[in-house]
Amino acid sequence: MSNKNQTLGEFIIENQHSFKYSSGELSNLLNSIRLAAKVVNHEVNKAGLVDIIGAAGDTNIQGEDQQKLDVYANDVFIQALINRNIVCGIASEEEDDFVAINSINNDHQNKYIVLIDPLDGSSNIDVNVSVGTIFSIYRRVTPIGTPVTIEDFLQEGKHQVAAGYVIYGTSTMLVYSTGHGVNGFTLNPAIGSFYLSHSDMEFPVDGNIYSVNEGNYLEFPDGIKKYIKYCQQIEDDRPYTSRYIGSLASDFHRNMIKGGIYMYPKSTKNPKGKLRLLYECNPMAFLAEQANGKASDGFTRILDIKPTELHQRVPFICGSTNMVNKAEEFMKEYS
Ligand code: AHG
Ligand code: MN
Ligand code: MN
Ligand code: MN
Repeated sequence: MSNKNQTLGEFIIENQHSFKYSSGELSNLLNSIRLAAKVVNHEVNKAGLVDIIGAAGDTNIQGEDQQKLDVYANDVFIQALINRNIVCGIASEEEDDFVAINSINNDHQNKYIVLIDPLDGSSNIDVNVSVGTIFSIYRRVTPIGTPVTIEDFLQEGKHQVAAGYVIYGTSTMLVYSTGHGVNGFTLNPAIGSFYLSHSDMEFPVDGNIYSVNEGNYLEFPDGIKKYIKYCQQIEDDRPYTSRYIGSLASDFHRNMIKGGIYMYPKSTKNPKGKLRLLYECNPMAFLAEQANGKASDGFTRILDIKPTELHQRVPFICGSTNMVNKAEEFMKEYS
């Protein structure tokens, strides 16, 4: 594979022959995400020094208070994606409806759509804890030459052509897959370039970390409650250890490296779960499967779920394959 001196830009070009539709457009699209990630990183790093932390004063369509960085990251990513003239539509957590984008020549020739969670882990912004960006890329399904429709966005996750995330953490990383494994790149802030630092990332088949917001324990389905108790039992390699950051991208990243399971089940407060299928769960499920892991809603493979709406929520269980299998066993038996 590739060496550690390889930049993300070089890696994208070197691997573009493996894309199913090899035209350079997907490379260009990934490059626009790379650029936007650097811009957002620069702003996140200054949070606390400039007036960028705190609430923006609006709520998004899901009733969440938008933070200033939610709005900033949303604007940066959308603008970067529009500028390259490759994307025909964008759906974002922070936009009520999808944004339709015509091509420069006004002839609707652009082929790709992007779904994005511009700033993941909003509640961590003000307290200097890692936040992220999550993205998902598809080819449109409606004919080229016509405006995009909602149908282009409501594709099953298994049709993703690429997905990834950025973590603005102790170091800033961009991790992505185009369907040929998962690779991670670390930003060298002195030079402003991402370098390949984690090639061919894979979830260990087993793990000993469970990540769930246990404050909601009493509201969880019985299958999840029993599985959590199983994680806590003193037996063989248990109890597992509990780690929960509250930023999906960061929790996923740790579990992929160390081996673990992430769960955001449904609860009385969130009867359909909290995480959004299209721009949180699907991209993470795509990455999980590419990294030898597994993602499920407790019963069904996430990537097989047919979406019905843009901001649809879904219960999410994701991580090391044997751990997800065990959690599913508990769900089938008790929920
Ligand atoms: P976002 O900040 O994009 O709205 O996402 C927040 C999500 C996810 O990142 C995280 O894992 C989860 O919400 C945390 O939820 P709780 O605070 O309910 O645990
Ligand atoms: Mn939010
Ligand atoms: Mn999120
Ligand atoms: Mn968000």
